[in-house]
Amino acid sequence: MARRKPLVVVTRKLPDTVETRMRELFDAQLNHDDIPMDQAALVEAVKRADVLVPTLTDRIDNAVLSQAGENLRLIASFSNGVDHIDVASALARGITVTNTPGVLTEDTADMTMALILSVPRRLAEGSQVLLGEQDDWSGWSPTWMLGRRIWGKRLGIIGMGRIGQAVARRARAFGLQIHYHNRRPLPGAVEEALEATYWDSLDQMLARMDIVSVNCPHTPATFHLLSARRLKLMKREAYVVNTARGEVIDENALTRMLEAGELAGAGLDVFEQEPAVNPKLLRLARQGKVVLLPHMGSATLEGRVDMGEKVIVNIKTFMDGHRPPDRVLPSML
Ligand code: DGY
Repeated sequence: MARRKPLVVVTRKLPDTVETRMRELFDAQLNHDDIPMDQAALVEAVKRADVLVPTLTDRIDNAVLSQAGENLRLIASFSNGVDHIDVASALARGITVTNTPGVLTEDTADMTMALILSVPRRLAEGSQVLLGEQDDWSGWSPTWMLGRRIWGKRLGIIGMGRIGQAVARRARAFGLQIHYHNRRPLPGAVEEALEATYWDSLDQMLARMDIVSVNCPHTPATFHLLSARRLKLMKREAYVVNTARGEVIDENALTRMLEAGELAGAGLDVFEQEPAVNPKLLRLARQGKVVLLPHMGSATLEGRVDMGEKVIVNIKTFMDGHRPPDRVLPSML
């Protein structure tokens, strides 16, 4: 007798090729309208599914997981970050959790580099001059629209995993000096290749950097890692870039300091209360002090297809009775 295909509930619309493959392999329940599921819909999904495929916009907390049916054995997240899932609670219930690491590294690093360049060089502000209501541009001037030089400055990367290292590779080509803070130093050969300096003390690194890039995951240990106290350690002329998770920075403190001119600027792709964005940050963006993007770091067609393929491999491997390649382990949290 043919084996029943697993019921795979996918919470958001995925690229067409990914959905087609999912339909072929699984009994896939897709979300054609891409309307985010509320908590009741998520509970309904975990009650029935063999596999849940959530994304980072779905809160899979203990309240949802406590309603899971006996069939739910795998949560194959369509995301690199897993801070939207109560992983400890899932594992305690015998539910395996996987993510999609690696495939969005280069895209996210590109976007990080774009923000590193665009804030000190006033890219968005300059573009706005041409697009604005009034004809604000009377031509080139020796003293107008001056930003700050990138070359030769110190970049401090917080979190030197795949994405942090990919940012470092790009930043070296722009003449930035690479500094980093991480739980552990990189192996000597990698550090040497990146000409990177390790700082065991985040506080000490922050005080000396011209640009700080947040590239670590959001975990209980990194929540508000850039706290009000730590942000105050930074130089007034320094910039902050975040393409990781909003929660890693105390966003209110950052906003206050930007308003007060205690930091030079920020490039933010992620926010603490996504999709809500602090109106004060929007005001700062209109003044050209910050560049804001709507969580687009990994938003390439290729990246999203690769993520989908990873999800499929994780489900298929698991269903075939093997360990899926991208299991989230407690030691990663
Ligand atoms: C992820 O998958 O965690 C990324 O933030 C998506 O951009």
